Amino acid sequence: MNIKNYLKRLINKCFWTKRYNTKMTSLLVPPESVRGMTCLDRTAFTANIQLPFLKCCDIKISKIKPIVKKYLLKLRKFKAIQNVDNKIIAYLNPNLVKKFEDLSENDREQLLGLYEEFGITEITINYDNWPINDILKAVLPEGFEVPTSYSLVGHIVHLNLRDMHLPYKTIIGQVFLDTVPVAKTVVNKMNTIDTTFRHFTMEILAGDKDTITVAKENGYMYELDFSQVYWNPRLATEHSNLIKIMKPNDVMYDVFAGVGPFAIPAARKGIRVLANDLNPESYKWLKRNAEINKVKSNIKSFNMDGREFLKTVVKEDILNRRVSKEIGSEHIVMNLPSTAVEFLDVFYECFYENEIVKMSSQSLMVHLYCFIKANKGEDACKLAQLLVEEKLGCTLQESLVNLHNVRNVSPYKEMIRVSFLLCERILKGEEPAMKKLKMENLSDISISDIITENNGKEQGTAKESKE
Ligand SMILES: C[S@@+](CC[C@H](N)C(=O)[O-])C[C@H]1O[C@@H](n2cnc3c(N)ncnc32)[C@H](O)[C@@H]1O
Repeated sequence: MNIKNYLKRLINKCFWTKRYNTKMTSLLVPPESVRGMTCLDRTAFTANIQLPFLKCCDIKISKIKPIVKKYLLKLRKFKAIQNVDNKIIAYLNPNLVKKFEDLSENDREQLLGLYEEFGITEITINYDNWPINDILKAVLPEGFEVPTSYSLVGHIVHLNLRDMHLPYKTIIGQVFLDTVPVAKTVVNKMNTIDTTFRHFTMEILAGDKDTITVAKENGYMYELDFSQVYWNPRLATEHSNLIKIMKPNDVMYDVFAGVGPFAIPAARKGIRVLANDLNPESYKWLKRNAEINKVKSNIKSFNMDGREFLKTVVKEDILNRRVSKEIGSEHIVMNLPSTAVEFLDVFYECFYENEIVKMSSQSLMVHLYCFIKANKGEDACKLAQLLVEEKLGCTLQESLVNLHNVRNVSPYKEMIRVSFLLCERILKGEEPAMKKLKMENLSDISISDIITENNGKEQGTAKESKE
């Protein structure tokens, strides 16, 4: 060690010995007395905490800041660097720094000559300062998992609490309301899910009772009543990915359109959209969203069963397009992952018409979503393909365009998109191919093993936190 470094260390050590003489008595946690609280008493979270700090003069802080950044105390509504009596104080995290030597040697050396004092001081931390994780960890019984993940739909915080959390649901709701900046309402998904319209029963835990909100996705606004319609912020990427593969001259038939997260961006791209949903509430908001996003002229909305929509509206539109020799492709979007495969028979039952078949091999594409139960090591996309082939009654072969894993829904459950062209062979529901498929692939696999149990009806369980 050269003489310069030796001196630096010596000075450093003397300084620290002089200043650091207060033993840390308290940890950075709310008072133990809040444990088990079920009715929120914010005053009970006030605590006096021993905090390490560095003091310096005004002009030095810009040099000190990059060195101590990683040690700074991060709390809500609390400035780690403050001006106190014309001096700058940088408060450090006591979990990282209990004494000056807890700073790395390199950092201590860099700080030499820059700071005036390292010491310990007591400050009062209250409810507004504690991070949500610290508040809930302090309240819930020891060893409980802290429910910190949530979805935000407009002003609504959507939780998916586990059974163990239910005795604390009111306080949990209130804490989320207090700490999530835009939150005005906190809801919890109940154990049941409305299997037809895919929206779940919810309980309002805290805040306004108003479940009508405006969700933003990919730059579009969607007004909706969250208690009446399906909305999942986790599909934002998929919504934009699918629209990217369509071109302005194309047509989109959205069989299970919801409030329009595929339909609206497609219409904005210049695609003609025929959008349908069986839920009258979804249909109402779909029309409203076409208005809000100024794409009304490109969207025609329908409120009917998907099967009827395909057999009548879609079929007729495709036939008309063939007659008038329209250019562009047709995209049939089927996002009802729990049961969409059950609608596939419509194609070979009703679409086998000369006019449709003539041009279909290149232009008529289906984008079908399904849930797949896949164990570790199993290829969920391949299982999705098998499922679609089984329901279509023939192999996809060259008609398969894409298999895409959209998202992991819960352990061993994936959401998959199968995109395929409706060629003549598929529209016929070719029997020999079906037999071949059964012999080759399905001899030891039952399709009921692939599709998720109860056709996805189990989604409502509180344990499926990602759903
Ligand atoms: C999973 S959501 C998808 C909504 C939207 N496409 C999205 O990506 O967010 C499925 C939609 O299908 C609708 N639905 C359910 N059964 C239907 C049926 N038999 N016919 C038409 N729509 C149906 C539901 O109301 C729901 O809005």
